[in-house]
Amino acid sequence: MAIEIEQPSSVELSRVAVSETHGENSPYFAGWKAYDEDPYDESSNPSGVIQMGLAENQVSFDLLEDYLEQHSEASTWGKGAPGFRENALFQDYHGLLSFRQAMASFMEQIRGGRAKFDPNRVVLTAGATAANELLTFILADPGDALLVPTPYYPGFDRDLRWRTRVKILPIHCDSSNNFQITLQAMEAAFEEAEAMNTKVRGVLITNPSNPLGATIQRTVLEEILDFVTRKNIHLVSDEIYSGSAFSSSDFISIAEILESRQYKNSERVHIVYSLSKDLGLPGFRVGTIYSYNDKVVTTARRMSSFTLISSQTQHLLASMLADKEFTENYININRERLKERYEMIIQGLKRAGIECLKGNAGLFCWMNLSPLLEEQTRDGELALWNSMLCEVKLNISPGSSCHCSEPGWFRVCFANMSEKTLEIALKRIHGFMQHRERK
Ligand SMILES: Cc1ncc(COP(=O)(O)O)c(C=O)c1O
Repeated sequence: MAIEIEQPSSVELSRVAVSETHGENSPYFAGWKAYDEDPYDESSNPSGVIQMGLAENQVSFDLLEDYLEQHSEASTWGKGAPGFRENALFQDYHGLLSFRQAMASFMEQIRGGRAKFDPNRVVLTAGATAANELLTFILADPGDALLVPTPYYPGFDRDLRWRTRVKILPIHCDSSNNFQITLQAMEAAFEEAEAMNTKVRGVLITNPSNPLGATIQRTVLEEILDFVTRKNIHLVSDEIYSGSAFSSSDFISIAEILESRQYKNSERVHIVYSLSKDLGLPGFRVGTIYSYNDKVVTTARRMSSFTLISSQTQHLLASMLADKEFTENYININRERLKERYEMIIQGLKRAGIECLKGNAGLFCWMNLSPLLEEQTRDGELALWNSMLCEVKLNISPGSSCHCSEPGWFRVCFANMSEKTLEIALKRIHGFMQHRERK
């Protein structure tokens, strides 16, 4: 039985604890709650909510499970098993060298070998969440700002702001050019910060983009790099979805741009990566910061003491990621399966009369429901989101929770469920659209 304690209201907590910058007051998280209270299950709850607001990758679990079955030595620790005692005692914040080496080479492989990563610059963190927060702590002081292109991943409102007390200032992107980042939009955001006397410390991009499900073009990356160099600020590139680009050549990492420029001005560039999306292992909490700045590497390593990865997890993944035959096969098949899923949802939505932004990466698509809005405002968008959740029983993420400046766009995840469940979700959307037409 739970302990029942009367909650006194007079005991104060810290300003950070009581601040509203945790970002959880958002339909993005409210939708997750609605799903948790009434989760869809094919046999036990067929009319429940289908979770399409969670960017999880479950399409390639069979490949991971096969690997573990064939390599039980990577995950078992019998009596006297080699390495058990060393791993049990291991707590060095550099992490296992074997794991950093495997991670660096996996990051190269995902980029088709077009970029090099030095294991000595890989800093390990408990997921990209910790990596992004840690970098923000290192690059900015409370009250300073990071410029982030909109729409962006709603978790950034928590990760970049809450404990660091750093601000996010939006770089507004819109559908007129398929939400691409422009120099004018970056300049406008920078000027806005100056007008507020706010110091801008850097730009943070997600490539491939969450929620757009699209990669950033080379010319745009070049422009962003030139911009941060001119302003003498940092660039953080969150490349957590890099392995989900449907074709390796579609994704261009900032690491490639730096390499082509002989690493000129690279000390302002930091890459964030994690295995949560590409390997579908968010529960393992495996992230990295790859910085070209020695001071950032040293400081991030020190700070990573707060968010280390268990040595057991490192040990398991070191053998998996060092197995080139496995990783190559995994990366290729995973890309193909994600692309198939993407085609399936795009075609299904098209049949229902719904258009999406043209995507080439990610675990979601960016769906345009603006023609259905009763009023072209955030409230109009949230009213539609609510109908989708309560009537159609689908949790999708409204664009406003990603700070999209145009109402009517929604992020829809397609890789966190079986194909059969996706078919049911599409059927529900089809039914919803037909019902609206008849009205
Ligand atoms: C752009 C982006 N960054 C970071 C994260 C957090 O990832 P992790 O599970 O590795 O902390 C997510 C998760 O959805 C994300 O979409």
